[in-house]
Amino acid sequence: MEKLVIIEDDQTISSQLRWGLAHDYEVFVAGNRQDALQLIHKHVPKVVTLDLGLPPDASGCEEGFHCLDEILRRAPATKIVMITGNGDRNNALRAVQNGAYDYYSKPFDLAELKVILARAFHLAAIEKDNIRLQQSSLDQHGFNAGRLIGGSPRMLEVFSSIRKVASSSAAVLITGESGTGKELVARAVHDLSTRKTRDFIAINCGAIPENLLESELFGHERGAFTGANNRVQGKVEYANKGTLFLDEIGELPLTLQVKLLRFLQEKTIQRVGGREDISVDARIIAATNRDITKEIETGSFREDLYYRISVIHIHLPPLRERDGDIMLMANFFLRRFGTDLRKKARRFSAAAVKLLESYEWPGNVRELENTVQRAVIMSDETIIEPEALIFSPGTTKEKFFRPSKLTLKDAREMIEREMVVAAMESKNNNMAKTAEALGISRPTLYDLVKKYNLMKSLE
Ligand SMILES: Nc1ncnc2c1ncn2[C@@H]1O[C@H](COP(=O)(O)OP(=O)(O)OP(=O)(O)O)[C@@H](O)[C@H]1O
Ligand SMILES: [Mg+2]
Repeated sequence: MEKLVIIEDDQTISSQLRWGLAHDYEVFVAGNRQDALQLIHKHVPKVVTLDLGLPPDASGCEEGFHCLDEILRRAPATKIVMITGNGDRNNALRAVQNGAYDYYSKPFDLAELKVILARAFHLAAIEKDNIRLQQSSLDQHGFNAGRLIGGSPRMLEVFSSIRKVASSSAAVLITGESGTGKELVARAVHDLSTRKTRDFIAINCGAIPENLLESELFGHERGAFTGANNRVQGKVEYANKGTLFLDEIGELPLTLQVKLLRFLQEKTIQRVGGREDISVDARIIAATNRDITKEIETGSFREDLYYRISVIHIHLPPLRERDGDIMLMANFFLRRFGTDLRKKARRFSAAAVKLLESYEWPGNVRELENTVQRAVIMSDETIIEPEALIFSPGTTKEKFFRPSKLTLKDAREMIEREMVVAAMESKNNNMAKTAEALGISRPTLYDLVKKYNLMKSLE
């Protein structure tokens, strides 16, 4: 049974809950912050309910918020359902903005609360699955590799393929637009395989000039060509018993496609200028952002090689097609860069979230990562506003204004906000002049400033 911690100082309510939920969960109750933190430390529940009014501030909310902060600091993955008094909507929203998973207003309807809790546990389970995958695939070779994040159905499918294929030695072809995480997935496959203690050797077929690529791949004997003063092993040989990652395989010249095919068929190579057949047992993972089937039609990629390298095919969907993942990743990057760069940025404002979610992300995860990093660097506030989000050059408004993503109201508000910010800036925050420039009255301007949370620019 899943564990649930209820933080509630009113004993009548807590025993009601304990009784009502005992069939579904193993319930623990704490009446104050200290006891709550101890219980959470001991039982590591996935979900917690938290009463906003806790002693010593039972009629207020500060202790509740304090408790929320502490739980999230110590156990950030906990899903916290805030329990608020009736009509306490503002505090409820504030709690969600501060990281609570959801809120529920008293008086209780047990059936309703059960639905909220079940959803929270479900989400926690999905996230935990992801984290498990991330941790089991943590990379030993390089910075940050192997930390795959995603909770969308499309990515969960990808994760499940990774897990399935990892145990075999079959060749894997990873396709997907630029920045979708192909290299990260290749490393995850390696790190989850029995070859994980051996090397993961990556070679970028598009980055090395054709005349050097052969020797880079297969090595050469001394004297094989001018300047070949020593025998050198190639990447394929280095990958023996490990994994060979052929990045941008679509760029591999035809002459080398033939040689690679020969290696895949015979499991032996010859160094350039050598005659000896050297056996190599390497698992092949290839990646490309090109449409190789087209290249086969035009004759620039060999069909027989394609079949050899694509025994298993993993396709990474573009970021814009991963439901829910944009914010999942944005928040992850925010936390990571916030810590790394010692900045206080802790969350995105509602307007910033809209913007992140409606952008098309042509550069996919890499672009998202860079955008969040820039925002964290730029912003000295705890809350990241749209101004701090700078998209790649050449990004036009139309990129955001896709009816499926934004309503007309959203779009109007985005423009409205931007206009107000720009006018205030150009008028040095002089409200009379700003209002005049915008052609609105001063009270209207004040309303807008309040609506878009631009007060801080005035301080
Ligand atoms: N699912 C993910 N979770 C976390 N970070 C990710 C994820 N996918 C990609 N990234 C990050 O995005 C960046 C780009 O990933 P990667 O280099 O693997 O993409 P790629 O598909 O190989 O791109 P390209 O086609 O441009 O070579 C990396 O910094 C990587 O850590
Ligand atoms: Mg890559």
